[in-house]
Amino acid sequence: MPSSKDYIEMDHEYGAHNYHPIPVVISKAKGVWVWDPEGKKYLDCLSAYSSHNMGHMHPEVIEAAKKQLEKVTLTSRAFHNDQMGPFLKQVCELVGTHLNLDSSKPMVLPMNSGAEAVETGLKVARAWGYIKKGIPKDKAHIICCEGNFHGRTITICGISSDPVTRHQFGPFTPGFSMIPYGDENALETEIHNIGAENIAAFLLEPIQGEAGVKVPPKGYLKKVRQICTKYNILMITDEIQTGLCRTGKMFAVDHEEVKPDMFLLGKALGGGVYPVSAVVTRENVIGPDVIPPGTHGSTFGGNPLAAAIGMKALEVMVRDKLDEKAQEIGTYFMDGLKAIAEHKTKLPVIDIRGKGLLIAIEFDGNARPLVEQLMNNGILAKDTHSTTIRFAPPLVITKEEVEWALKIIKKVFTE
Ligand SMILES: Cc1ncc(COP(=O)(O)O)c(C=O)c1O
Repeated sequence: MPSSKDYIEMDHEYGAHNYHPIPVVISKAKGVWVWDPEGKKYLDCLSAYSSHNMGHMHPEVIEAAKKQLEKVTLTSRAFHNDQMGPFLKQVCELVGTHLNLDSSKPMVLPMNSGAEAVETGLKVARAWGYIKKGIPKDKAHIICCEGNFHGRTITICGISSDPVTRHQFGPFTPGFSMIPYGDENALETEIHNIGAENIAAFLLEPIQGEAGVKVPPKGYLKKVRQICTKYNILMITDEIQTGLCRTGKMFAVDHEEVKPDMFLLGKALGGGVYPVSAVVTRENVIGPDVIPPGTHGSTFGGNPLAAAIGMKALEVMVRDKLDEKAQEIGTYFMDGLKAIAEHKTKLPVIDIRGKGLLIAIEFDGNARPLVEQLMNNGILAKDTHSTTIRFAPPLVITKEEVEWALKIIKKVFTE
C-alpha cells in the first residue's frame, strides 16, 4: 500500500503546485478527527476552511447523500427536479429573517463553489444597478475592501489587494475599487469620489477570514448598513466562511443585528460533502426583471444531490444549535489561547482574535514551523499570511477535546 510520502510525491509530480499544503495525507475522517494512511490520528482545526461545521462524515448528511445517490443526481436546470425547490424554500425561510427584505420576499440563486456565488452576486448587483437604480450603461461600480478574500476567478483576483492572489493574471475587470476594511469614513469618502448614483454595491466579509480573522471595530457593520441605505447601495456580505454558525451566531452580521441586502453562502452549506453555494437576496433585487432566463446559470447549480445534502446540512446545524455551541466552546478555546500567550512563547504573540470558533493567533515571525510541530503532535491547523495560525475546528468539538488541544498547543508554542 502506498505511504503518505508516496501520495505527497504523486501530488507534487502530477499536480500543479498552486497550494503549499502541510505534509499530511488524510485518508479517513469522523467528526473532529482525521487519520492518515499509517493510522495516525489528528484533530482537524481547519475544517476545510470552515466547511465541516457539523463535523466530518455527519451520519445524517451522509445518509441523505446516499439516499439521493440511489435516485437522481444531476438533471441540469433544463428540467426541474424534486429536491431544489424544497431546498430553496428552506434557505429562504432560514436566511430571510436575517435579510433586509425591503417589503419584498427572499429569493435564492444556487451555485456550486464559493467563488461562483461571489461572481453571481457581482453580476446580480450590476444588473440591479442598471435596471432598478438607473445607473447609466457600463458605469456600474462596486466597492470592495482591502485584505478581502472572495475566491480565485479573474474578476475576484482583480478585486484582491494581495499580490500573490493577483499574480500575473491581469488585465482585470473594470468597475471596482478598494477601500480600507473597518473604516466607514473611507466608504463614505469613496462613495463621494465615485458618485453614489453609479455605485451598485459594497461587498465585504463581516469578519475577514483569509486575511487572518480580522474582526472589524464594533459598530462598523451597523454604520455600513446605514451608509448603504442612505445612498441606495446594496450591502453584500460574503458569509461563505463566517456564515452558518461558525462565529457563534447563524451569520456574523447577527453580532451587530445588521440585515444585509444579499448573503453569499457556500462551504458548510454543502455539509462538508459536496460543493453547494448560494446567493440569497430579495425578489426586487434578483427577480425575473433583473435576472431573466438565460442571463446566468450553471450545469451543476441546484442539482438534486446538492439540494438533498444542503437541506440536511441546514437542518442539522439549526436543530443542533451549532451557533450556540460555537459561541460557548469558542470562548473557552480563546480564553485557553490567551492563557498560553501569558507564558514565554517561541515567537512573540501579537494578537489573539476571532468570534465563536473562528479564532486566530498572530505571531511576530514565521509561524509555519509551529504549524508543522502542531501536526507532529496531532493537531492540523494552517498558517495564513505566514504569521497567523487559524483555529477553526468543526463546531461539534467538545470541551474535553479543546482541553486536550490546548495542552498540545501550549507545549508546541512555549517549550
Ligand atoms: C469569504 C470567502 N469567500 C469566498 C471563498 C471562495 O470559496 P471557494 O473556495 O469555494 O470558491 C472563500 C474561500 O476560502 C472565502 O473564505
